[in-house]
Amino acid sequence: EGESTVSITVVGASGDLAKKKIFPALFALFYEGCLPKHFTIFGYARSKMTDQELRNLISGTLTCRIDQRESCDDKIDKFLKNCFYHSGQYNSEADFKQLDAKLKVHEGGRLANRLFYLSIPPNIFIDVARCASRSSSPAKGWTRVIVEKPFGRDSESSAELTTGLKQFLSEEQIYRIDHYLGKELVENLSVLRFSNLVFEPLWSRQYIRNVQFLFSEDFGTEGRGGYFDNYGIIRDIMQNHLLQMLALFAMEPPVSLDAEDIRNEKVKVLRSMRALHLEDIVVGQYKSHVRGGVKYPGYTDDKTVPSNSITPTFAAAALFIDNARWDGVPFLMKAGKALHNRRTEIRVQFRHVPGNLYKRSFGTDLDQATNELVIRVQPDEAIYLKINNKIPGLGMRLDRSNLNLHYADRYSREIPDAYERLLLDAVEGERRLFIRSDELDAAWAIFTPLLKELELRKVAPELYPYGSRGPVGAHYLAAKYNVRWGDMN
Ligand code: BG6
Repeated sequence: EGESTVSITVVGASGDLAKKKIFPALFALFYEGCLPKHFTIFGYARSKMTDQELRNLISGTLTCRIDQRESCDDKIDKFLKNCFYHSGQYNSEADFKQLDAKLKVHEGGRLANRLFYLSIPPNIFIDVARCASRSSSPAKGWTRVIVEKPFGRDSESSAELTTGLKQFLSEEQIYRIDHYLGKELVENLSVLRFSNLVFEPLWSRQYIRNVQFLFSEDFGTEGRGGYFDNYGIIRDIMQNHLLQMLALFAMEPPVSLDAEDIRNEKVKVLRSMRALHLEDIVVGQYKSHVRGGVKYPGYTDDKTVPSNSITPTFAAAALFIDNARWDGVPFLMKAGKALHNRRTEIRVQFRHVPGNLYKRSFGTDLDQATNELVIRVQPDEAIYLKINNKIPGLGMRLDRSNLNLHYADRYSREIPDAYERLLLDAVEGERRLFIRSDELDAAWAIFTPLLKELELRKVAPELYPYGSRGPVGAHYLAAKYNVRWGDMN
């Protein structure tokens, strides 16, 4: 009596995301004791598989990463006993009806809550939402559906997807994931800003010169070319991951930490942003490069990518927020694949100290003397502030040093994967880190005009060698706004 169960059905269970992220995250939650006592995990996909085969597939992806000194084989076994598989078509209500019957057996008449994770291409989202909602009749509990981008290709197709899903699900049931919101340092953004007096008052055009959102990966689109070529880096990274970080960074203080209050502020700031056009952007595409005797492939060398593709694998953009707080402050974004390193950072460059007494000590390059706050989201999480400091000694020489919060030194706990936090939130009904539909509309409104212009004018990307720092065009773009990329120093 009063007991409830949760079932989590991963639709698209044999896909990459499920294997790499979803199952390991579910296990980590189980390991930490975060899943309810009665839980069932179902894999759903078209291929035929037995429960045991799914378990083998899952167990191959699990490691005892939380405490590697202790074996966790018994926990893995317990976890796997709760994992099952059902094979079916994505558009068959009858197949989902059979799943429903199986779920009911596990639910055993308890209050039944059901979470569906749609780890599938967006063209079948609506089919699955229809089948899952029409053929699912859990005992009174909630039904929620997690969907993952791409949410369309532009404003129109995104709106269609939203309308389609809402035929079968209410907005409250839809959990749109942007996994960057589940990253530890992204969640920390609000804490850093709103609970530190030394930051909060500085968070405006009065003290901040520009803000940079930087994303780089040191590998290309190998193996995902088919998906990627349809979307490109602007839709893959900027319109969602970087823009979400920007919204959290720049929003007005929310009334409270409640999901609706936070999302209201995010929508507001997104709606205050100017739409992007061609002059605000530089696009690039990586080409093959030989280094140390190894030949790294170019983007169009991928068999699944048309040889004349002009899809950008790199982009740099300048965005503006037309409100009182941020008027005139450039928010720069840079995102690229096949660059020289893998890193995601937010860099906040502060203004010059008016009438700086030590101006002379910096020679001609005063820009080198401004403070910069760096939030390194990954890897090797850190927050550091560049300050001016006297070099110890009898003379008066200054340099820039870092006040440094390095997570690996400060905290011994392992940082959870973004999917762990987000899955837990979805189970608990916490919607703060999920994207509301009006937020999504506002995000598309910023990027859609640009994406259309790029396609209409067939803008050719600037080629850059695999493993390089990207096209030089990015520097000219920044220079237009008197900005230097912080990661180039
Ligand atoms: C995904 C993109 O959303 O994020 C990928 O589709 C990208 O192209 C990935 O590689 C990056 O995520 P993370 O967590 O590895 O930085």
